[in-house]
Amino acid sequence: MDFKTQWVGAGGLAGVAADALLVLVPPGGVPKGLDKPLTEVLAAAVKDGDFEFKAGQTLYAHRVVGVKAARVVFAFLADTSAKALRKALGGGLALLKGSGAKALSIAQADGASWTAACGEALVAAVSEAVYLYRETKPSAPAPSKLAAVSVVCAKGEVAGLTAGLQRGEAIAAGATLARECANRPANHCTPSFLAAQARQLGKAFGLKVEVLERKDCEKLGMGSFLAVAQGSAQPPKFIVARWQGAGKQDAPVVLVGKGITFDTGGISIKPAAEMDEMKFDMGGAASVLGTLRAVAQAKAKVNLIGIIPACENMPSGSAVKPGDVVTSLSGQTIEILNTDAEGRLILCDALTYAERFKPAVVIDIATLTGACVIALGHHRSGLFSPDDALAAELLAAGEQALDPAWRMPLDEEYDEALKSNFADMANVGPRAGGSITAAMFLKRFTGKLSWAHLDIAGTAWKSGVAKGATGRPVGLLTHFVLGRAK
Ligand code: BES
Ligand code: MN
Ligand code: ZN
Repeated sequence: MDFKTQWVGAGGLAGVAADALLVLVPPGGVPKGLDKPLTEVLAAAVKDGDFEFKAGQTLYAHRVVGVKAARVVFAFLADTSAKALRKALGGGLALLKGSGAKALSIAQADGASWTAACGEALVAAVSEAVYLYRETKPSAPAPSKLAAVSVVCAKGEVAGLTAGLQRGEAIAAGATLARECANRPANHCTPSFLAAQARQLGKAFGLKVEVLERKDCEKLGMGSFLAVAQGSAQPPKFIVARWQGAGKQDAPVVLVGKGITFDTGGISIKPAAEMDEMKFDMGGAASVLGTLRAVAQAKAKVNLIGIIPACENMPSGSAVKPGDVVTSLSGQTIEILNTDAEGRLILCDALTYAERFKPAVVIDIATLTGACVIALGHHRSGLFSPDDALAAELLAAGEQALDPAWRMPLDEEYDEALKSNFADMANVGPRAGGSITAAMFLKRFTGKLSWAHLDIAGTAWKSGVAKGATGRPVGLLTHFVLGRAK
């Protein structure tokens, strides 16, 4: 998809040469400055009760006399925020689904100005509207014909808007990569597949990629990660991908993504209902790959390292059992009381591994707990960090990216729940506060690191008829990392 800016000539919006014209309509009635042919359609629709000035309202008109674009879509824009723009465009673009339009122009009915944030939201909306999973579905509808999107703006807005469009394109490409990986069924998206994706990304964008095999992890002493992996016929992969955009001496941002390519629960097996959705349990890993792509595409002057412990959580004769005690890379022992609390078991070794990079900050991203979904639902990701400044920085990144998070507590009182009679800690506490005890478990492996944890169990994918990966939190993470660039 090609995104660019344009300005209108003497012909006004009616004279814009495009296959489709999407006009954003602000509150307060038919805007004064709008061209006559467009004004007439919109005013008539208002009169006929077919267009109200309220959120979600859209209108499609075909071959309007006096308008060059064959298709015109009006979409109500509630306010000037990027969030409202994304919603309005989502509704408007839905009317162009399956249309033959290749070139689309998007304009403000009242000539309102475009900010960089709006440019970014525009790309996100378009990318979301045209995304379609096809990989294992030959019968999927034909891909969208849309190839070029042009934003009608004033000449003075071009520089800012273009920057926003470019940032949006980098994020959208990253989010799409994350969705493509996560949507793939687990028999396709194995740990080896994730490793191959990382290598491919490395080749295309100049990342250094290293993949540790089972024997490498054994040598290092990753007893916790390997305990989860041992029940599966799929070999585990411990993936390390590095983007060096800043000087060698610059401390990197490290992202650690949970890469459970399928979570059966292991011997503590999950119920059958909706177990298919556990193919999305590598959503954290997918978001790390997506963020690496976005940051590399943006050629950001920052050092970024992605670490992905990848394996399957399976029950089998060789699987880890409830009550087994393992020794983590940190040397701390863990009593695995529930094999379904496997995410923390692979992340803890990755967090310890991250220390060797002397990172400025480490953020882990994981579809970690059902409890987080109960706490926050599907709108905001759970954010956990003992560091107030880091938490604020991540929350702000989420707001800017329209990929919001919400901070959860980490009081030491919650740590009590992890006591064990047979090891340094248990891998689970009681049901209550389950997302917090999971984070407290991880915290035990962060030492002096500046660390945050994102629980994306509720935000990485959608269930029901729209079942599919969302590509979150690539937006939040990319904003955060770009915010740290020189
Ligand atoms: N991958 C799941 C978390 C999950 C469950 C995400 C449902 C989204 C929807 C994780 O590995 C898990 O099974 N967690 C357990 C932890 C429990 C055993 C302490 C959970 O949340 O039930
Ligand atoms: Mn699990
Ligand atoms: Zn899991």
